[in-house]
Amino acid sequence: MAESLASHGTHGDASHDVTKRDFLKLTTAAFAAIGVGAMAWPFVASLAPARDVLALSSTDVDVGPVTVGQAITVVWRGKPVFVRHRTPEEIAAARAVPMSDLRDPQTDQSRIIRDPWLVVVGVCTHLGCIPLGQKPTDPKGDFGGWFCPCHGSHYDTSARVRKGPAPLNLLVPAYAFTSDRALRIG
Ligand code: FES
Repeated sequence: MAESLASHGTHGDASHDVTKRDFLKLTTAAFAAIGVGAMAWPFVASLAPARDVLALSSTDVDVGPVTVGQAITVVWRGKPVFVRHRTPEEIAAARAVPMSDLRDPQTDQSRIIRDPWLVVVGVCTHLGCIPLGQKPTDPKGDFGGWFCPCHGSHYDTSARVRKGPAPLNLLVPAYAFTSDRALRIG
């Protein structure tokens, strides 16, 4: 542009002004282009699904405040997940059950990552009701775990089905401990 201004300078002030004006126009156009670019970025960024989808697919839970015998319900991908701090008696009862007594045979150890925590999706495997047993005042069924009032399924302290029409144990979701007192579901 400096070269262009110098060559036009010999033709008088008028052409010099025109060139200056062209320069200003070009400069303005350049800024406008940058402006459009900057405006466009958030829209482009919002099209990228990865971060949003990732955020929705996992749920972080602080289990620190959950004392022995308590349970909490958290939401993961729109479903309730039961996190139970089991008592030593509940763990012992779950491990004393012969596999031949189970409709959907799974050892308690295969359903947990770390004692004393049991983590299961709180959706009955019969027709999808939410079983009772999370609150201290809830009925826990004949096996001390959960009771589904819709059609009377009973789950034990490993959330395995023991009685009633449910065909399968409550599902154990994918999860991991991210610290001594924190776990991430999903
Ligand atoms: S939905 Fe739970 S027993 Fe039918």
